[in-house]
Amino acid sequence: MTAPVVHLAKVSKAYGEVLALADADLHVQRGELLAVVGPSGSGKSTMLNIIGTLSRPTGGTVQIDGHDIAELSDRELSALRAGTIGFVFQQFHLTPGVAALDAVADGLLYSGLGLRERRRRAESTLRRVGLGHRLHNQPHQLSGGEKQRVAIARAVMGDPPLLLADEPTGALDSRSGATVMDLLHELHSAGTTVVIITHDRDIAASLPRAVHVRDGRIEYDTAVTGPAHDEVGI
Ligand SMILES: Nc1ncnc2c1ncn2[C@@H]1O[C@H](COP(=O)(O)OP(=O)(O)O)[C@@H](O)[C@H]1O
Ligand SMILES: [Mg+2]
Repeated sequence: MTAPVVHLAKVSKAYGEVLALADADLHVQRGELLAVVGPSGSGKSTMLNIIGTLSRPTGGTVQIDGHDIAELSDRELSALRAGTIGFVFQQFHLTPGVAALDAVADGLLYSGLGLRERRRRAESTLRRVGLGHRLHNQPHQLSGGEKQRVAIARAVMGDPPLLLADEPTGALDSRSGATVMDLLHELHSAGTTVVIITHDRDIAASLPRAVHVRDGRIEYDTAVTGPAHDEVGI
């Protein structure tokens, strides 16, 4: 059996007095699609940043794609992250003035590929997310939903096995949000492991698995306990 993509064992993160995450145990197998759901301030982004190796825990063990991150230097961690994880954030993080094609091509800046090949791959990825007609548009010429699709294209350019999305629909109207969710489902169907952070319980209930977080603790995980009563309509 292959190692889980994500393995957290008793993981904690303290910011001074604030315990943002406490004793979190989580296993994510390759090919899963799941939500991490909870109210604002419950520790969701803290957990995502630790899974994404952007932040190291203050306690516990984190293994990503079989690597214990405590054994890796910052440089080795960056290399693991670059090859394994794609990130999508609520606020898109697109640079003003940079056209979609270049924003996505820049996702492979450190791949060693030449500009022409990076642009060719960027174009094909933008077509994959339904933006073949927006290659040369800058962020201010795109709708919110289109911006998020550019950001997703950039995140999946190198075909990372793990995609982490922190409130990817949080800044979108419901229709654009639905389009972005459809795209995340498609990427999952194509084999990517997808973790979606959300405070939206409807989104969480629409996914095969939901990990509920409250006050820095995993309250329950539908993969462990089955769906919550309010999610099955009882
Ligand atoms: N860099 C930080 N420094 C200090 N406190 C932080 C930091 N990041 C998060 N926190 C605190 O940790 C708790 C969890 O935050 P966060 O993980 O961002 O929650 P969520 O994403 O669920 O809204 C909150 O009390 C927040 O104020
Ligand atoms: Mg957050």
